[in-house]
Amino acid sequence: MKKIAVLSSGGDAPGMNAAIRAVVRRGINKGLKVFGIQRGYAGLLNGNRFIEFEMGSVADIIHRGGTILLTAREEGMFNPEFRQKAVKKLINMEIEGLVIIGGDGSFQGAIALEELGMKVIGIPATIDNDINGTEQTIGFDTAVNTILDAVNRLRDTATSHERIFLLEVMGRETGHLALTAGLAGGAESIIVPEIEYDLDEVCRRILRGIKRRKAHSIILVAEGAADVYKLHSEIKQRIEAETRVTVLGHIQRGGSPSAVDRLLGSRMGAMAVDLLSDSKSGYFTAVSGRNIIPVPLTICITEQKEFPNELYKLALDLAR
Ligand code: F6P
Repeated sequence: MKKIAVLSSGGDAPGMNAAIRAVVRRGINKGLKVFGIQRGYAGLLNGNRFIEFEMGSVADIIHRGGTILLTAREEGMFNPEFRQKAVKKLINMEIEGLVIIGGDGSFQGAIALEELGMKVIGIPATIDNDINGTEQTIGFDTAVNTILDAVNRLRDTATSHERIFLLEVMGRETGHLALTAGLAGGAESIIVPEIEYDLDEVCRRILRGIKRRKAHSIILVAEGAADVYKLHSEIKQRIEAETRVTVLGHIQRGGSPSAVDRLLGSRMGAMAVDLLSDSKSGYFTAVSGRNIIPVPLTICITEQKEFPNELYKLALDLAR
């Protein structure tokens, strides 16, 4: 293999740049030519967004959030004709291997390209941490810490005013962010799409706190689990206490990556190149305990990642 390319796709995640840097530097160290494709699959399909990297192209990016390659959510990858065109473009440029950095939607695109004969390796990057087969994705740790910072700040003002705060965090389909930040931040209730919530129980927990002179309550709500404003008015109808809503939004996606995410990006990026240069394809780099291992891409589309119910119970048990 002489030429490889790398792209980032789907929602950006802090640590993607560390992964790009590792792909480029490991690739060049191995004597490969490394290309970057800008704007994810959109850049690949349009064929006009290819840049050749040098060692210095990825200097000064390990600490930056976002992705220097830009990213997009591209529906065109679901069109077989477009996919053929994309593979043809890569073949014409004599690119034999592709590293795809992104979430499970991006991995579906990777599988489709592999079926057309392209060698592909995925690197899991999404703040949602919802990719089956890996314990952690790039970006999750930074986003959890961003939420924790918000929880700490809200707790200061919540305590001073003896208020209840509902904090909406990202996660349209999954509650890994809400759960992990909720447990680490001591939230009184955590509302996630995976588990049906009981409004009476949420209110009981608030009242129990007030009874034992707790000055505040923090309720973490994953965006896909409930309408946070509706929830707010329902709680207000039942409980006589001041409540406020904060929606954290895309702040969770930005910011300098944590050490954990920089390490994941660096280790996974290097492994992705090693796998390609060993002629391996159809895998993504996954966290298993303290190791990074190759796992078949198909694992992330055949089964959903299990929600850690035990952690959920623990979080509620400890925040009484
Ligand atoms: O998949 C990452 C994610 O941040 C989700 O948590 C969130 O629901 C979604 O992307 C938001 O997407 P967009 O940036 O397109 O609004």
